[in-house]
Amino acid sequence: MPSLDDPMSDYAPDLTGLPALDGQVAIVTGGARGVGLGCTVGLASLGATVVMLGRDEQHLAQQAGLLVARGLDVVGRVADVTRPADLAAAALSLGPLGQPDVLVCSAGVMSDKTAKTVRTTAAEWDRVMAVNLTGVFATVQTFAAPMLQRRSGRVIVLSACLGRMSGPGCAGGLAPYRISKAAVNALVKNFAAEAGDGRRGVSVDAVCPGHCRTDMGGPDAPRSPAQGADSVLWLAAREQLSPTGLLWEDRQIVPW
Ligand SMILES: NC(=O)c1ccc[n+]([C@@H]2O[C@H](COP(=O)([O-])OP(=O)(O)OC[C@H]3O[C@@H](n4cnc5c(N)ncnc54)[C@H](OP(=O)(O)O)[C@@H]3O)[C@@H](O)[C@H]2O)c1
Repeated sequence: MPSLDDPMSDYAPDLTGLPALDGQVAIVTGGARGVGLGCTVGLASLGATVVMLGRDEQHLAQQAGLLVARGLDVVGRVADVTRPADLAAAALSLGPLGQPDVLVCSAGVMSDKTAKTVRTTAAEWDRVMAVNLTGVFATVQTFAAPMLQRRSGRVIVLSACLGRMSGPGCAGGLAPYRISKAAVNALVKNFAAEAGDGRRGVSVDAVCPGHCRTDMGGPDAPRSPAQGADSVLWLAAREQLSPTGLLWEDRQIVPW
């Protein structure tokens, strides 16, 4: 994958027209790699303090060091989203940074390419659901609950077009992955309604990043991680909270 050392980095965001996020705090799960790293770089470039969550302490420290050296305000914390205790410990250790203005759930795993429904093992099903669905549930419980109390915050979940119930979605194969993303879409829509659909200061949305050059998307994907992160940055920085409770791609609403 392209590295942050590369001056032609795939992670350089296009911030044209986006308002600043000075003084705001963002937490990004999976924030030290791939689309999540694109979100980290973009949000920090807009002025936010960004906390990257991931499982690899050394990688987090290395990426944070590179970004801080570029003048961005970024810290890393170890947290496996399949372990609610990790998330709670991270929230506690972060103090005020554990109560973010922006929460981006990018941590995700792909399923085994041969994972048709009747061939998928229970272990494979559980592995993918644990990160892509239950991990988002646990992350939202940990970091979005204070947003509801404060009546202020933006929650953005990386979904996938493969999880839609229309268009290219749920067209067979990759069953755990597709179904985990369809389910997380339901989580987003349901949580947005519980949060008042933007009327009580909290927006909740899902984003299809498109096919991006990451460990998951592969080196030949047409989009950069920065392009995949673009709608996330736009949702995090837009002045209006509504419409919300929707699936977005390239800053446009797409059908579930
Ligand atoms: N790339 C695409 O083409 C594409 C297309 C559609 C949707 N998406 C979605 O976009 C999101 C990001 O994808 P990506 O392409 O950036 O993937 P990626 O390059 O494979 O990165 C996955 C990220 O998820 C984190 N992660 C995985 N399991 C985790 C766990 N148990 N706890 C905490 N973090 C965990 C990884 O962190 P560590 O390994 O550092 O712990 C890593 O940062 C995913 O939700 C994916 O489904 C991607």
